[in-house]
Amino acid sequence: MKFLLTFIGVFHLLSLNSGKTICKNDISQRTFQEIKEEIASYGDVAKEIINLAVYGKAQNRSYDRLALLVDTVGPRPSGSKNLEKAIQIMYQNLQEDGLENVHLEPVKIPHWERGEEFAVMLVPRIHKMAILGLGSSIGTPPEGITAEVLVVTSFEELQRRAPEARGKIVVYNQPYINYATTVQYRVQGAAEAAKVGALASLIRSVASFSIYSPHTGVQEYQDGVPKIPTACITVEDAEMMSRMASRGNKIVIQLKMGAKNYPDADSFNTVAEIIGSKYPEQVVLVSGHLDSWDVGQGAMDDGGGAFISWEALSLIKDLGLRPKRTLRLVLWTAEEQGGVGAFQYYQLHKANISNYSLVMESDLGTFLPSGLQFTGSEKARAIMEEVMRLLQPVNITQVFRAGEGTDINFWIQAGVPGTFSPSIFSLQIFYIQQCLQGLNLSSARTLFWK
Ligand SMILES: *[C@@H]1O[C@H](CO)[C@@H](O)[C@H](O)[C@H]1NC(C)=O
Ligand SMILES: *[C@@H]1O[C@H](CO)[C@@H](O)[C@H](O)[C@H]1NC(C)=O
Ligand SMILES: *[C@@H]1O[C@H](CO)[C@@H](O)[C@H](O)[C@H]1NC(C)=O
Ligand SMILES: *[C@@H]1O[C@H](CO)[C@@H](O)[C@H](O)[C@H]1NC(C)=O
Ligand SMILES: *[C@@H]1O[C@H](CO)[C@@H](O)[C@H](O)[C@H]1NC(C)=O
Ligand SMILES: [Zn+2]
Repeated sequence: MKFLLTFIGVFHLLSLNSGKTICKNDISQRTFQEIKEEIASYGDVAKEIINLAVYGKAQNRSYDRLALLVDTVGPRPSGSKNLEKAIQIMYQNLQEDGLENVHLEPVKIPHWERGEEFAVMLVPRIHKMAILGLGSSIGTPPEGITAEVLVVTSFEELQRRAPEARGKIVVYNQPYINYATTVQYRVQGAAEAAKVGALASLIRSVASFSIYSPHTGVQEYQDGVPKIPTACITVEDAEMMSRMASRGNKIVIQLKMGAKNYPDADSFNTVAEIIGSKYPEQVVLVSGHLDSWDVGQGAMDDGGGAFISWEALSLIKDLGLRPKRTLRLVLWTAEEQGGVGAFQYYQLHKANISNYSLVMESDLGTFLPSGLQFTGSEKARAIMEEVMRLLQPVNITQVFRAGEGTDINFWIQAGVPGTFSPSIFSLQIFYIQQCLQGLNLSSARTLFWK
């Protein structure tokens, strides 16, 4: 994790108060060679940040801070008291850290609770199945739903076999292609099954491999379509039911879910800054989300992202550096429910979009980084590549394509990428796996995660 911190820290060199500046106006007037030279001139500052984060007194700081929060508060689902407790703790932490303009921006967020849930296969044999209800799903009646199963591997197959679906539990055994493609089954599976008269839907977890572990996540009902209960099952059970169905076995499942949706709750996006010395109105935003699902501690998703984003500010403050542009930390609320906090933030702040230089989000899990994902013009990408050279001492220099994320997409979709002016880029960061925290980089390298 600490490498990552370094990484964000170094990125902000572009905004540091030494030498010339790079801003969108400057770029049109300056040659790429000049920009390249300026970036290279930050090499020593980059090394200072790297040393503090990787070898110095900040070595394990973000890990220790995160461990304390997740051990103390535990899971932080949208609408829960835990999430609000975490937000209050972070508000205090950021003030105690000496950051500027620490404040909370109110947001109304969904409140869903899973309740007790279970599923058991009754026919062709008794088999208790691991399930996780999907966020925003309704529950079943108290006695549960007992029905025959229709197994399909795609929405197309569901359409083709629509007459068979009525009164059944639809099981999706869609193959894993990639997250963005396959997650559509989790998000839309219940609505599509309800359209053809199903009573409930069970979705194969959206995972590239499995150790009999169901994965939760949010799902969406559609207006005018009946709401039916929906949960994820394991890859193993989905495959098994597919095999049974292809042998002509009848399958019957009893599903019980106590899930419930409550009225929207009060929450906050948490904000802190280091105010820019030269262009205080211009913003470089770093972010992660504080909310999590209820069935873990939310350390990977997205405690790591939130805390390394905070660490970027801490490192710069510790070194007594002041960026030219305002460096703003935003800890989003209710990302898991579809970027609810981020959407509200965008609505409130989009009037100032022309002063957002860069929007960064960290929400890919916590691993050893090899680079970052970036969306922006080719000219901006060339500049990014120069910036990333500063991370040569920790060998984190790659610039990938397709930077995107729930909490920054609103800005990206506002249309700036692809234009000549590099006003909005998006970045995502690859993390150091938590278990590598504390290892010297030279040994961590050999454990490189891909
Ligand atoms: C990390 O490893 C390098 C190379 O082996 C060594 O020079 C350095 O002192 C080590 N740093 C720490 C903090 O152990
Ligand atoms: C927009 O930016 C101006 C400074 O340029 C600031 O005073 C104002 O509060 C900002 N508005 C929002 C909604 O962020
Ligand atoms: C952006 O910042 C500049 C100063 O750097 C200010 O003059 C301008 O009003 C700001 N624009 C918006 C939309 O806030
Ligand atoms: C540096 O990282 C690249 C991948 O990003 C890897 O292929 C290479 O082996 C690494 N080099 C060292 C010395 O670890
Ligand atoms: C960081 O953690 C490692 C492993 O637990 C430990 O060896 C090292 O001394 C710690 N560094 C600091 C600065 O506390
Ligand atoms: Zn996340």
